[in-house]
Amino acid sequence: MLLYPKPLDLYPAEWVDALYPYLDSKSLWELTHHIDQERLASEGLKNYFKTIQRLSQLPQSTLPPFSPPQSSWDFMTVKKQHEISHLYPHIEELRKNHQIEQVVDIGGGQGHFAQFVAFHQKVKTTSLDLDGPLQQAGDLRQLKKWGEKVISFTTHKLMYPDPAFSQLLTPTTLTTGLHTCGSLACAQIMGSAEKRSSIFNLGCCYHRLEPEFTNLSLEAQKNPLPYNRFALTLASGPYQKVSRHDVNLRNHVKRFRYTFHILLCEEFGITEQVTLGNCDEALYFGDFSLYAREQFSRLKLEYSGSDESLNSFQKDPTRSLLVDKMISTGLVRDSLSRPLEVAILIDRALWLEERGYKADLVEIFDAKQSPRNIALIATPV
Ligand SMILES: C[S@@+](CC[C@H](N)C(=O)[O-])C[C@H]1O[C@@H](n2cnc3c(N)ncnc32)[C@H](O)[C@@H]1O
Repeated sequence: MLLYPKPLDLYPAEWVDALYPYLDSKSLWELTHHIDQERLASEGLKNYFKTIQRLSQLPQSTLPPFSPPQSSWDFMTVKKQHEISHLYPHIEELRKNHQIEQVVDIGGGQGHFAQFVAFHQKVKTTSLDLDGPLQQAGDLRQLKKWGEKVISFTTHKLMYPDPAFSQLLTPTTLTTGLHTCGSLACAQIMGSAEKRSSIFNLGCCYHRLEPEFTNLSLEAQKNPLPYNRFALTLASGPYQKVSRHDVNLRNHVKRFRYTFHILLCEEFGITEQVTLGNCDEALYFGDFSLYAREQFSRLKLEYSGSDESLNSFQKDPTRSLLVDKMISTGLVRDSLSRPLEVAILIDRALWLEERGYKADLVEIFDAKQSPRNIALIATPV
């Protein structure tokens, strides 16, 4: 939309023409999941999608998940259970091979993961988080759940550099970070490297990453990727979790949103980006006029035309073809989500390797259950 009235200018016309006939929910879902792309009538586009798939591929974890007694899962969601059962064997392996004597869990919240590791592995464990009240709730709960205080909590806002954090670490420390948002992952990784501690990290919320924490490695600095806020938001996008219903809904949402933005532009001269809130799902499947009226009222704009004129505005063949083409460019753009995430994480791994670490990236969760599923596992050599 930012490029309107020329919203397709960045995309090869041949790619857009090959894509827009496939906006029914089945085809959209298949193309989103790289299925049956051979049917596309553009060699360039087919090659693009193949490259995207190649750049998205990482090794999968081969360690079997841990199955603890059922009571260990008390107070945990199914998602958290999935994550911890798959993380746990990696922590066990790291401890076995690297003489780890202490675990410090970064951004540990209530300390679910830290308590689980401490209880089952009998290792000294600290959960560090900036949210004191959350930690107090976890502290009360640990006594109830495990019958003893298995971990200690440290309330601290981790930054980089951070001398107070460094003081907690030694070469026999393993720092863990399960879904460390934005720059917190880098503070964990870079702070741990100062003390040659081992590292287990899963990142998330890349849109919160500060620019100085991108292109960290010398390798990346030779050809830095120009991450902007759109790219970082894309890197945080869903990976494989989209159901057919989600794909179909998103298609309808985009159709009405794009049409409404065009209306704002043409009828009200509003060319800057306006944030449009979400409406009730049913509204996206009904008449455009109902949707537009709700958005007008939210934006406190007076529209003097009739419902018929709003509906004809949406149904106008030239305009609806343009909107279809705009939606199809989303398939090209959204497919960059995973390669962008992989590129950010490869950069972190390279940064560590340049400092004498062995660093691996492994997919450890089922993406349907937990889409931010890439672990960075690094040990000093
Ligand atoms: C996405 S949550 C993950 C919580 C937990 N690891 C889990 O997987 O359930 C991120 C956590 O990091 C904490 N956090 C964010 N920035 C932080 C910082 N700079 N220092 C310490 N904790 C931070 C938040 O308070 C929050 O509990």
